[in-house]
Amino acid sequence: MKNPNEKYNFNIDQFYKDYKKGPKVFKNRDALEPSFVPDELPHRNKEIQKIAELTACALMGDAPPSFLCYGMTGTGKTATIRYVSQKLEYHTKEHKPWWIYINCNVVSTPYRILAHIYNTISGSEKIPPTGLPKDVIFKKLLGLLDQKVGNSICFLVLDEIDRLIENKKGGNEILYDLTRLNENLDYCRTSLIGISNKLKFRENLDPRVLSSLGEEPPIVFNPYNAPQLGDILKDRAEIAFYDGVLEEGIIRLCAGLAAEGDGDARKALQLLRKAGDLAQRAQKDVIKREHVYEAQDDLEKDHVIEFILGMPLQAQLTLTAIYLLSKFPESPEIIISGDVYEVYAELCGIIPGVRKLTERRISDYINELTLAGIISAPIKSMGYHGRTKIIRLDIDKVFLKDILSKIDKIKNILNYKPILLQSNKVKLKNNVFKRLI
Ligand SMILES: Nc1ncnc2c1ncn2[C@@H]1O[C@H](COP(=O)(O)OP(=O)(O)OP(=O)(O)O)[C@@H](O)[C@H]1O
Ligand SMILES: [Mg+2]
Repeated sequence: MKNPNEKYNFNIDQFYKDYKKGPKVFKNRDALEPSFVPDELPHRNKEIQKIAELTACALMGDAPPSFLCYGMTGTGKTATIRYVSQKLEYHTKEHKPWWIYINCNVVSTPYRILAHIYNTISGSEKIPPTGLPKDVIFKKLLGLLDQKVGNSICFLVLDEIDRLIENKKGGNEILYDLTRLNENLDYCRTSLIGISNKLKFRENLDPRVLSSLGEEPPIVFNPYNAPQLGDILKDRAEIAFYDGVLEEGIIRLCAGLAAEGDGDARKALQLLRKAGDLAQRAQKDVIKREHVYEAQDDLEKDHVIEFILGMPLQAQLTLTAIYLLSKFPESPEIIISGDVYEVYAELCGIIPGVRKLTERRISDYINELTLAGIISAPIKSMGYHGRTKIIRLDIDKVFLKDILSKIDKIKNILNYKPILLQSNKVKLKNNVFKRLI
C-alpha cells in the first residue's frame, strides 16, 4: 500500500534541526580551500628564501629584478608569492609596495591586462572594458603609476603567464611593454613576476622579453613527495577539523594518494576536504578511510567531466565516435583506430559547421585521450595489414553518455548508429550502399 503521507514524506525542518545538533567535523572548513593563505608554508624554504633575496631591495625602495617561477600545478607557486608579498608588506615601513595580481587565465587580453592594472591602482577612475587605443591606456597608466605609486615599487604578478602567449596575438608585445615600464617612469618602479606551470613556455617567449624576464634564473618549484604533503595536510587539518575527528592514518593516506599523482598539494587538500564533506553529510563524527576512497572516486569523476567538457569539439567528436562504436549490441569486439576515424568522419557530415580533420590529427586526439586515462589504445600488429591501435573505453559508458549529453552539438547524436554497425548498409570508397544479401 502506498504511504498516505508520501506527498510530504520528508520532514525538512526536522532534518535541519537534527543536522544542527548532530556531529560536526569542521572547525574551520575554509582552511582547506585553495584561497586560504596559511601562516607558514612547509617545505618551501628554499623558494621563499630565493624570492625574499630577490625582492629584499624593495625594502629600501629599489626595484627588484623581474623573474619567473616555474613548477607543476599545486606546487605552491601562487601561495609562496602571496606569502612573500604579505611578509614584505609587513616589513616595509614607508612607501609600502603595491602588488597587482593578474591571473592571465581570467584577464587574458593585453587590453584587459592594462585596464586591470590601471583600475586596481586607480580605485576610482575606471578604464572601460573595451574601446580605448592601447597607447592611450598605456600613457594613462604611466601617469597613474608615477602619481599614485610614487616612490614605491609596484609588483606586477602575472600568474599563469603561459596563457598569455599561448595562441594569443599580442601576448609577447604586452609582456615586452610591461618589462620596459621603468624606462618611461619618473618616480615609480615596477617589477614583473611571471608564474607558470608549463615548463616549456619559455620557448615561446620573444627573445627581448626573455632577456629581461630571464635575467635571474627562474625559481623552480618541485612536486611534493608523500611525507611533505603529509606535513602540509597536518598543519591545515589542525585548523580545519575538531580534535579527534580524523581516524588514525587519514593524513598519510591522503598524502600518499596525492603523491602517487603529481605531488599536487591542491589535490591533497581537496581530497581531505571532500572526505570531510562526505563524513559530515553522512552525519558521522569520524572521518574514515572509506570516506577518503569515496572522495578520491568523486574527484576522479569530476576531473574526467571537466577534462572532457574542456576538450576541443574535434576531440569530443573523436570520443563520441569511440562511444558509438562501443555501445550497440552489434559493436565489434575490438575497435581499431581506422574505424574510429570512419565514424568520426561520418559525424562531421551530420553536424553542421564542423570541418573534417585528417586521420593524423584524430590520431593525436586519440593519444591525448589515452594520456588522460579515458581510453586505452595499445598498438597491435595485424600481420599483413600492418599495425593499428586497439581502442577501449576505460570509463563507464553510462557515465560517458551523461557527460557527452552536456555538449550541445553532440547531445542529439548519442543514439546514432554508425554505418559500420548497420547490418543493412555497406560502405565502399566513401559511398554508402544498401546491402542486398
Ligand atoms: N608548502 C605549502 N604549505 C601549505 N600549503 C600549501 C603549500 N604548497 C601549496 N599549498 C596549498 O596548496 C594549494 C595549491 O597551491 P598553489 O595554488 O600555490 O599552487 P600553484 O603552484 O600555484 O598551482 P597552479 O600551477 O595550478 O596555479 C593552495 O591551497 C596552497 O595553499
Ligand atoms: Mg597558481
